[in-house]
Amino acid sequence: MKSLTPPDIQAMKGGEPIVCLTAYTTPIARLMDEHCELVLVGDSLGVVVHGLPSTVGVTMDMMLMHARAVRRGLTRPLMVVDLPFGAYEAGPQQAFESAARLMTEGEAGAVKLEGGAVQAETIRFLTERGIPVMAHIGLLPQAINTVGGYKVQGRGDAAEKLLDDAKAVAEAGAFSVVLEKVTASIAETVTETIDIPTIGIGASPRCDGQILVTDDMLGLFEDFKPKFVKRYGDWAVAGREAISSYASDVRARRFPGPEHLFGDRAPASKTAKN
Ligand code: KIV
Ligand code: NA
Repeated sequence: MKSLTPPDIQAMKGGEPIVCLTAYTTPIARLMDEHCELVLVGDSLGVVVHGLPSTVGVTMDMMLMHARAVRRGLTRPLMVVDLPFGAYEAGPQQAFESAARLMTEGEAGAVKLEGGAVQAETIRFLTERGIPVMAHIGLLPQAINTVGGYKVQGRGDAAEKLLDDAKAVAEAGAFSVVLEKVTASIAETVTETIDIPTIGIGASPRCDGQILVTDDMLGLFEDFKPKFVKRYGDWAVAGREAISSYASDVRARRFPGPEHLFGDRAPASKTAKN
């Protein structure tokens, strides 16, 4: 099946909502292959997979390894890979080198970076040289050390700045933009104003699409739950129950059972596995 391209995603502006999720591994990517238009290998993997306190410690090597794993699980969705902290902020040249690695070694269909007007020059530099860029404005988790908290963005006077950032990234050539943890009203204004799809996370149902961190929505990552997350599963609960049953079985010598054992004589049939 042909993968969706950035222009395909851009063409969905104003139409059916664009379904997006994050993925970090092959088996989880496979689960969303037929349901999502866009799968993001997000640097959130630092927190939900590697146990880091924030996304600031995520490296290019981590992004490349997970990108290749996710690639093997996808056929139809566009795979977007996050540029990690430190790999693009120095300027367009550095961003191009990192983004090109995500495209070649990581087989990304597009890259994502955090920042509005301040990244416009870089977004233009990349898109003019064949690298499709998804922008990300509003709450910027990579900026946690200067911002000091994961606060709602775009309230009061900050609304105008957010709209300017959205216009700047669209004008610079981004094919879509993530709006993270912003007021519903500014998300709607941005969506109506710019001509590229807005993908909301903690934004508004009127965005052109939605994204969540998959480990959050599956209830696999339990350390904290942002208000904007809806839990569609209880995977951590199910996992703990399964592991607890296994532990009881091992301690009671109930596992392995007769069906898991190998006899002394080879089986009669060539196809038998026991
Ligand atoms: O890293 C990530 O998962 C993200 C999404 C939350 C948009 O950037
Ligand atoms: Na991210």
